Amino acid sequence: MLATLVKVLATRRYPGPAFDEIEVEIRPLALIDEPRGDVEGLIVANEPVPLERFPALRIVANFGVGYDRVDVTALARHGVIVTNTPGVLDEATADLAFALILATRRRVVEADGFVRSGAWSGSWSEGGLAEELTGSTLGIVGLGRIGTAVARRARGFELRVLYTQRRPVVTELGEFRELDALLSESEIVSVHAPLTTETDGLIDARRLALLRDGACLINTARGEIVDEQALVAELVSGRTRAGLDVFAHEPHVPPELLDLPNVVLTPHIGSATRQTREAMTRLVVDNLLAVERGEPPLTPV
Ligand code: 8YV
Repeated sequence: MLATLVKVLATRRYPGPAFDEIEVEIRPLALIDEPRGDVEGLIVANEPVPLERFPALRIVANFGVGYDRVDVTALARHGVIVTNTPGVLDEATADLAFALILATRRRVVEADGFVRSGAWSGSWSEGGLAEELTGSTLGIVGLGRIGTAVARRARGFELRVLYTQRRPVVTELGEFRELDALLSESEIVSVHAPLTTETDGLIDARRLALLRDGACLINTARGEIVDEQALVAELVSGRTRAGLDVFAHEPHVPPELLDLPNVVLTPHIGSATRQTREAMTRLVVDNLLAVERGEPPLTPV
């Protein structure tokens, strides 16, 4: 049990047996309206931390790799350690990106709706034929851990892979392109960058217009990286397709998207497999326990 971290507060219950290894009070931050001088450890899921309510805080353990809503600079100024969960969710997120690639390219969700509606009498010709995956070009925006896991999968599907990020790297997984070139050359574009001041609104209206007719945009990273209103306009026009797991103002989904056949929508489930979520909890707890033992955290941001 925690000896020095007297009190850990979590904003909700996190899945897996590791969560039971620590004593935790479960309380959403919105319900904390008075200073809690007893709390030294906080488990959040990419949420802003009201530091003034937690004067004794020593560690914020973020359940997730992305921590764009956590003010790390302000916390560091107060000597608070911030940790995240890199590595353990790469494969699950890459799988979901591929699920969305396959679903949008092969129109799986539309086809499913067609069968369920009872409209299947002859062959399915509604809206024309789908697009093959083999031999097409996939552009990866951000070849970090998750982007790399996507590129590895792309080999099995015999895709040609392009990637963009700040600097080219030595890799066999794909060819470097500047973002504009990648957008205009790819038939599928998959976003795997963190949300930072540099990537906020990175794919704006001008860049969306560079996409090829019929191209698929896949986003399992952060909604804010793509200008959402411009994307909605683009999709309403029917020129391109999209597979979206993330949105700019979750859980709000632009209502214009809900009836569009050229969009597949999922509710931010990139890491939502039992194995991955349990591994994320394990890492959150191990970070707390390390700090409690006076050791450096495993995965500080
Ligand atoms: C969420 C994620 O953290 O890791 C990330 O950056 O976006 C997800 O894994 C998870 O959905 C919990 O809210």
